[in-house]
Amino acid sequence: MTALMDQATHLRSLARATARQATVIAIASGKGGVGKSNIAVNLSIRLASAGKDVVLLDADLGLANADVLCNIDLPCNLAHVISGKRDINEVMVKAPGGFRLIGGASGLAKMADLTESDRQRLVDSLQQIEQQADYLVIDTGAGISPNVLSFTRAADHVLVVTTPEPTAITDAYAVIKVLSRDQSDRRVSLLVNQTLSEREGELVYDRIARVARQFLNINLLDAGGVPDDEHVVLSVRKRTPFVLAYPKCPASVCVSQLAMRLASGVASPVQPEGFFDRMSRWFRR
Ligand SMILES: Nc1ncnc2c1ncn2[C@@H]1O[C@H](COP(=O)(O)OP(=O)(O)OP(=O)(O)O)[C@@H](O)[C@H]1O
Ligand SMILES: [Mg+2]
Repeated sequence: MTALMDQATHLRSLARATARQATVIAIASGKGGVGKSNIAVNLSIRLASAGKDVVLLDADLGLANADVLCNIDLPCNLAHVISGKRDINEVMVKAPGGFRLIGGASGLAKMADLTESDRQRLVDSLQQIEQQADYLVIDTGAGISPNVLSFTRAADHVLVVTTPEPTAITDAYAVIKVLSRDQSDRRVSLLVNQTLSEREGELVYDRIARVARQFLNINLLDAGGVPDDEHVVLSVRKRTPFVLAYPKCPASVCVSQLAMRLASGVASPVQPEGFFDRMSRWFRR
């Protein structure tokens, strides 16, 4: 009897450990400054306004961080969780527009240097989020550092952001190439930001998708375009995300369409095991 109960308890804890709800969307780019953080914040707001529980993990170590765009103070971040000083639920802050934000800060810069117990604390904490939320959006830094890769490799969907500039396109292709080397069911899509016309966005997507199909043998999904829109610049100055400050501006309309497409299942989980199980596996390589 006791043995049976032990087994049941064990099975229940196993089920809990593998229960997985959140769809994980990593936002990446080759070149810096192409609009990742703005897309991450505004997309999170739009997904939240559709009634979803959204957590945005700011893993971008650049200057324009999500907390700055949203004008909120983050007294603690993931570094405090890794060091055991705070629980993950204590470092999540409710952000304008209804999503919850976790600051990544410098704790993530040294991910590869973490001790086994620090790493376990990180993975356990993020697993909690994965089990609570509908979406986990991760704003990664620019480029293909090991840090960025540990997130993109484990995500269900990687949204690669580029602008129409040739330098940004070349760097976006380099990221897609690295992603294509992993044997994985993960979806990869391209979002063209700061387009001067819808046609320009389509042309950039067509060009990269064709080369990716031919040389990398991958099917690059089309995440659409976001126009070059002065409301984005104004909203960054006001420290209010543009979908809240200017809900009808062209950039807001396009991000809303993107959120609708993602919510309709384009980004739904494709990998059977949990995100952070996979992430911890990548860490160990
Ligand atoms: N659609 C747009 N229209 C006009 N300006 C834009 C648009 N998207 C981004 N920008 C401008 O580009 C700047 C950089 O955007 P953002 O900080 O989101 O880029 P990033 O890719 O996160 O940068 P980093 O690589 O440094 O993290 C914004 O402050 C804004 O001025
Ligand atoms: Mg950024």
